[in-house]
Amino acid sequence: MEDMEKMDKILVLDFGGQYNQLIARRVREQHVYAEIRAYNKITVEEIAEGGYKGIIFTGGPNSVYEEVSPHFDREVLKLGIPVLGICYGAQLMAWMENGSVKSAANSSEYGKTLLAVDDCVLFRGIPHESICWMSHTDYISRMPAGFRMTAYTEKCPCAAMCDETRNLYAVQFHPEVTHTEYGRKMLRNFLFYVCGCNGEWKMDSFVETSVTRLRRELAGKKVLLALSGGVDSSVAAVLLHRAVEENLTCVFVDHGLLRKGEGDDVEQTFKDQFGIHLIRVNAQERFLRRLQGVTEPEKKRKLIGEEFIRVFEDEARNLGKIDVLAQGTIYPDVIESGNGDSAVIKSHHNVGGLPDVMSFDELTEPLRDLFKDEVRKAGEKLGIPHELVWRQPFPGPGLAVRITGEITLEKLEILREADAIFRQTIEEAGLQECANQYFAVLTDLRSVGVKGDARTYGWTVVLRAVTTDDFMTAEWTRLPYEVLELASRRITNEIKEVVRVVYDITSKPPATVEWE
Ligand code: XMP
Repeated sequence: MEDMEKMDKILVLDFGGQYNQLIARRVREQHVYAEIRAYNKITVEEIAEGGYKGIIFTGGPNSVYEEVSPHFDREVLKLGIPVLGICYGAQLMAWMENGSVKSAANSSEYGKTLLAVDDCVLFRGIPHESICWMSHTDYISRMPAGFRMTAYTEKCPCAAMCDETRNLYAVQFHPEVTHTEYGRKMLRNFLFYVCGCNGEWKMDSFVETSVTRLRRELAGKKVLLALSGGVDSSVAAVLLHRAVEENLTCVFVDHGLLRKGEGDDVEQTFKDQFGIHLIRVNAQERFLRRLQGVTEPEKKRKLIGEEFIRVFEDEARNLGKIDVLAQGTIYPDVIESGNGDSAVIKSHHNVGGLPDVMSFDELTEPLRDLFKDEVRKAGEKLGIPHELVWRQPFPGPGLAVRITGEITLEKLEILREADAIFRQTIEEAGLQECANQYFAVLTDLRSVGVKGDARTYGWTVVLRAVTTDDFMTAEWTRLPYEVLELASRRITNEIKEVVRVVYDITSKPPATVEWE
């Protein structure tokens, strides 16, 4: 497979619903490439020329009749490309084709619902009755001409409809949600029997085709990437380097708030292993100066973000003309930054959110359609070390949010040591898979202790380990007492300024994972 354009791909036309990320993921699970585009960021002409094998209209939070609701050019249904409308997308299809959609509280459905299907290619191999996931108030009250009803529920007379001659399909329920028993099969039927996809897409193809495309798009241009050493920017760096080689410059702003040895590891991996042109800016002093006397968590984060931008800008200026700014934005960031707007530069709470006042002719975001686990897979295909690809989340503001109170060099060094000891203890016990994230925190609480024969007054270190699926909620990890005991003993023995070690036994909520 040589080129992205020749590969089977599906357009997921995003109307803003809550499960839209999942749709693309489900399509890719079937080894068909899915590209998510916001409905207001692509034209029908671009769709016609985009080489799509099929289009999926996603759900959305609106009612099709509201003026502010997302609509789309009716011509899209005349392109001859198969379309599947889901939930809002189904109602939109009905509305675009002059059917009727009505709103009625007594026909609204939410949750698992019994679905009955009729004969239709979308439901091939699926029993007459099964469970689907519904979430709607509006419903299709009159189908457009040429459509026939193919599924119903107790409250929803038209839970699915199709016009086979034009390859237009619509379902009121959500096949992408696992609660829909045969949802995967329905999507598979659409992809393979309706769209005629071949299911050959794999992460290898993503890497290959992205490199080919980037090589073409970025030919002869100077590209700049802010590399943090995190998974996303690392994968973006290696991918871009494959494509443009020495035309890529990575700037690694070392704010001095990284864990023990981390800055050197990043430098060594990208410079020596991959031969990437990397500029490491050792800016610890600058950052510590800004943070002097600051104790308020939000203020710390803000100052670090601002200083990061300044350092990066200074470095970019020194580099002379740069044509393209590259970012490791991934799909969840696109969502966070507002409805798929490619012009919005990653603006969530990470250090590395770059200002839009920086003038670059172009922005490239090669990972913007991928989910985290897909980014990791791409990283593995690119030969990035396993430890880096699977590393735990680490906040952009670094250890600054793991030191309560003022940040000083002395405290940073204490924390770096304590954190390294804790992580090493867990790893030596072979427990790294037991928790999803583990680290140490240095509080600004001092207490009395005895070391040797002397009475001391020293710092309190907190150990934190959490078990979680998504970091939105988390349980504190039940680490074995022996491991906690060993970590505590080593930390108090090896770091003279620490007299007390405590284990954080709070889940999230009510606590957050980080202390600040
Ligand atoms: P909280 O503390 O909000 O953390 O429960 C949830 C997850 O997010 C990580 N985290 C961050 N990640 N930039 C990041 O990239 C940040 O500013 C940031 N703050 C928290 C945290 O480590 C945990 O995994």
